[in-house]
Amino acid sequence: MELKVLDHPLVAHKLTHLRDENTKSPTFRALVDELVTLLAYEATRHVRVQPVEITTPVAPTVGVELADPKPIVVPILRAGLGMLSGMTRLVPTAEVGFVGMVRDEETLEPFTYAERLPRDLSGRQCFVLDPMLATGGSLGGCVKFLAERRANDVTCLCLLAAPEGIERFRQLVDGLKIETTLVVAAVDERLNEHGYIIPGLGDAGDRLYGVI
Ligand code: URA
Repeated sequence: MELKVLDHPLVAHKLTHLRDENTKSPTFRALVDELVTLLAYEATRHVRVQPVEITTPVAPTVGVELADPKPIVVPILRAGLGMLSGMTRLVPTAEVGFVGMVRDEETLEPFTYAERLPRDLSGRQCFVLDPMLATGGSLGGCVKFLAERRANDVTCLCLLAAPEGIERFRQLVDGLKIETTLVVAAVDERLNEHGYIIPGLGDAGDRLYGVI
């Protein structure tokens, strides 16, 4: 698994406002949107393209367009939805699938309670959206689910990650023997006893959508 951490003053500036408990939902959503666009720029560095012939007002030339099959973006419900518009703004021709992950309270293993994805993902570049990589269980479970659908090229985009979560995620995905990249805006200090990232930003889903 390859890990990329964004190191950029604009990202640090936006993250600071995102973390602030005084930042209200509308601003929080706008900041997530902007941060995802910056994450997506890095995450799509190896997106496949194919040549295309065009004519400028003065001469013909050859450019590129996204290759087929088009990339697929997979937000993990619910908080991953808050990252979708930032991603599709940068990659408007991508298709969008959905995965809902929840932890089985008996086995403690994540399982997929909802999904809308092609049966066969071989040859598709998959981009998974999940703002908080805390324990790594649901993100790892999602990548395992995609691998079972024969995905072999998965890039995950997260806003914040805990070191413990990155390690668990690495162990889970390295066993799958597929190409996996993790792009995060920042790696925080640790997880607390309730599974929250410290200093983090609190519950990303609640801050995006309110407490339901
Ligand atoms: N999920 C969140 O939304 N926040 C955390 O800190 C950890 C998991």
